[in-house]
Amino acid sequence: MISVFGSLIGDEEIANVMACMRSQWMGFGKNVEIFEKKYMEKYHLPSFAMVDSGSNALYMAVKLLDLPHGSEIILPSFTWVSCAQAILLAGHRPVFCDVDHRTMNVRREDVEAKVTGKTAAVMVVHYAGLAVDMDPILSLGYPVIEDAAHAVDSTYKGNPCGAIGDVGIFSYDAVKNLTVGEGGGITARLPARIERAKVMRYCGIGKSGFDSAVANAGGKARWWEYNIQEPFIKMLPTNIAAGIGIAQLDRIDTLQKIRADIWRHYQDEFGRLGWITTPVDAQPGDRHSYFTYCMRMPKRDDLAHYLLDNDVYTTVRYHPLHMNPLYKQMDVRLKNSEVLNDDCLSIPLHPRLSTDDVNKIVDLIKKFGKTHAL
Ligand SMILES: Cc1ncc(COP(=O)(O)O)c(C=O)c1O
Repeated sequence: MISVFGSLIGDEEIANVMACMRSQWMGFGKNVEIFEKKYMEKYHLPSFAMVDSGSNALYMAVKLLDLPHGSEIILPSFTWVSCAQAILLAGHRPVFCDVDHRTMNVRREDVEAKVTGKTAAVMVVHYAGLAVDMDPILSLGYPVIEDAAHAVDSTYKGNPCGAIGDVGIFSYDAVKNLTVGEGGGITARLPARIERAKVMRYCGIGKSGFDSAVANAGGKARWWEYNIQEPFIKMLPTNIAAGIGIAQLDRIDTLQKIRADIWRHYQDEFGRLGWITTPVDAQPGDRHSYFTYCMRMPKRDDLAHYLLDNDVYTTVRYHPLHMNPLYKQMDVRLKNSEVLNDDCLSIPLHPRLSTDDVNKIVDLIKKFGKTHAL
């Protein structure tokens, strides 16, 4: 079966994991600091902290804004469930808005349509790694959380996605452009927010036992006592995850080049077929991360099943959240998101695909079009 998502792990990642094992220390440690420094430098971020998942980073991002309890946060319905869960768990109300059916990204008018007296913030998602047009959204004047889970390596007008709004998050889960198995990151325009995030991620404890020991090295120091600054859950990343991340970061340009080449090939091949609407490329001056190749077509379900029958796995990202009863917004109509729910399909795009895999996928899709007179 050709998988729809995938990563490419090499000897360096394995060596870094083995080094952790041999050192007998797998928990939070030095590798996290090294990864954070390298990641910040590579992507020119003003501040950065690694955490244990992108989902948890979203929750932390919402909490970092210190909004009044019960505030409304506007976000696209066409996104991953963690976005809405983070808002709910932080004691606020997710208010779903539509996206543009071509870019699959939220626009200023989509947000404006949902503004009420309780609106306190906006959450945007750089879908598939295509940068949201941030300036019009920022000009609305609300604090903006950027979900850059798909957008490691993406830029908007020369700036790294994730670091354009007030707080931004990244995901390094098993299928992302940079993977550590499970992991995430958080950045903020104000570095003080990330200093706080580093406290929050360790149950709100200001200093780790080790740091306290160093700080309190005097003769009567009680290094086992710590200063709890605020209530928070544990989101510490491990030395193992960070070690994998360090190696992934060293090879990210190569991984991105593989993704870009496959994307270009798909764009050329499918752009010629009248029945497929290909995804939008990055605006001049922006950079796409090519996280997923999501195209649109008639007979989407039939194509997905045909590909599955031929050992090619595909998926739909995302089933719109407002269509899920949990959020009690099923009566809301978001036309573009609902259309995308019926006609978009993510086909395999990742650095472990071989040329044969890519050719097989393209041939199967062309054949499907012919046999269905599309
Ligand atoms: C848009 C979006 N946001 C957040 C997340 C959560 O990231 P993680 O899987 O690291 O928790 C994902 C995961 O797929 C995602 O697609």
